[in-house]
Amino acid sequence: MTARTYSNILDPDIFPTEKGPPHALFDTWRESDPVHWNPPAPAYNPAPPVSPVTKGFWVLTRHQDVFDVSLDQERFSSHNEGFVIWDPAEAALSRQRANLMGMKSAEHAALRHVVMRAFTPKAMQAIVPEIDRLSREIIDDIVDSGNCEFVFDVASKLPVYTFCQLMGIPEEYRSKVVDLGNAMADVETRSQHTFDPMVQLNEISESVSAQKRHVPDNSLMSILVHDQSLGLSQLNINMLFQLFAIAGHETTRSTAAHFIHLMCTHPDQYKLLVSDVDKHIENAIEEVLRYTTTTTHFRRTATIDTEIGGKPVKKGDKIYLSYAAANRDPAVFANPHEFDITRSNARKHLAFGTGPRVCIGARLARMELLALLKQILMRIPDFRISGEPKWLRSIWFNAITHLPLTFTPNRVGA
Ligand code: HEM
Repeated sequence: MTARTYSNILDPDIFPTEKGPPHALFDTWRESDPVHWNPPAPAYNPAPPVSPVTKGFWVLTRHQDVFDVSLDQERFSSHNEGFVIWDPAEAALSRQRANLMGMKSAEHAALRHVVMRAFTPKAMQAIVPEIDRLSREIIDDIVDSGNCEFVFDVASKLPVYTFCQLMGIPEEYRSKVVDLGNAMADVETRSQHTFDPMVQLNEISESVSAQKRHVPDNSLMSILVHDQSLGLSQLNINMLFQLFAIAGHETTRSTAAHFIHLMCTHPDQYKLLVSDVDKHIENAIEEVLRYTTTTTHFRRTATIDTEIGGKPVKKGDKIYLSYAAANRDPAVFANPHEFDITRSNARKHLAFGTGPRVCIGARLARMELLALLKQILMRIPDFRISGEPKWLRSIWFNAITHLPLTFTPNRVGA
């Protein structure tokens, strides 16, 4: 790989231009300066309500460093200054701290324990038939037409429908939650919307909480409003609701889109996959997660003067955990820039993070991807890209936002 001229990862044109993260730049840094200081870039500063990036930060490009720092909330906090790379004003920081991901360790562990009840292997197994049904419905809607815009007609629906199912959100809200989830997911362009998706999601969260207070059921929302031991405020509940609407949405949507895009651009791998779908599909999903890493990073802040990989780091310094760079580290993945659905250690990727704040929805995301992609492979296996794919202009999400496909219409339903 040859390095392009980028020097600062706060350039929001990198992903659309490179069709993903700047791996050539990450390789250069990993080889010569694996804990790299990235200065702020005043030219990059999104419009409010997104906060600016006023401080520079350390970018970790080695798998081992990202792994070690992720395990250590004592030294590298998600709470003190939040978990996103933007530098929040006081109000925005309070919101992050009220969010599961930004809570202090003890509060985080208690709430996570409760939320995990909805994500145990048993709970997940119970919703497999529902996920299969939703996936079938989504493909039913496009199968006769012979074409679709994959990201919004297909990929964005399943995560939101599943989230509604888990939270116990009535069906009539589903399409509204899809729109709001899409608007929330494009964090950096939120100011361009004529409505505030956060406000509308809060309204839905408050109305569903009120319903569950009157008529409890076994949904996650009902557990959250009734479990007295949690003592959650409505703000905490709203933040959790928003977290699921974003965290479970764009990530799964984009991984499905990357999967289809990669299969079209790597016909040899697609041929291998369809030669024995049951044998290859799960590892192919892991390899897509590794190779594309939709959530490219999260942030930590050093709580004491310390070191990372031998580099001194000061108390208060900001750390950028580059999952994207870690997932292409040759110390862990042989020929890391090769897309290989049979890679034996693909599952060592850090696309879901690791440690105490590892993704709660990883099992669910894998199940959703499996159900949806199997439907596609069964019912529209000759999908082809029919127009130029577009990437999100972002410094955070490696997301395809437009992927037009054609295929032979009207295959028999599965
Ligand atoms: C391909 C899909 C997904 C990817 C790549 C992904 C990625 C991530 C990553 C990297 C983190 C770690 C954050 C950190 O260490 O600070 C995380 C956390 C989280 N994710 Fe996911 N995620 C995905 C799907 C989901 C789904 C489907 C849900 C739920 C419906 C979900 C809910 C969460 C939650 C609640 C957290 C916070 C965990 C905590 O702080 O304890 N994610 N995700």
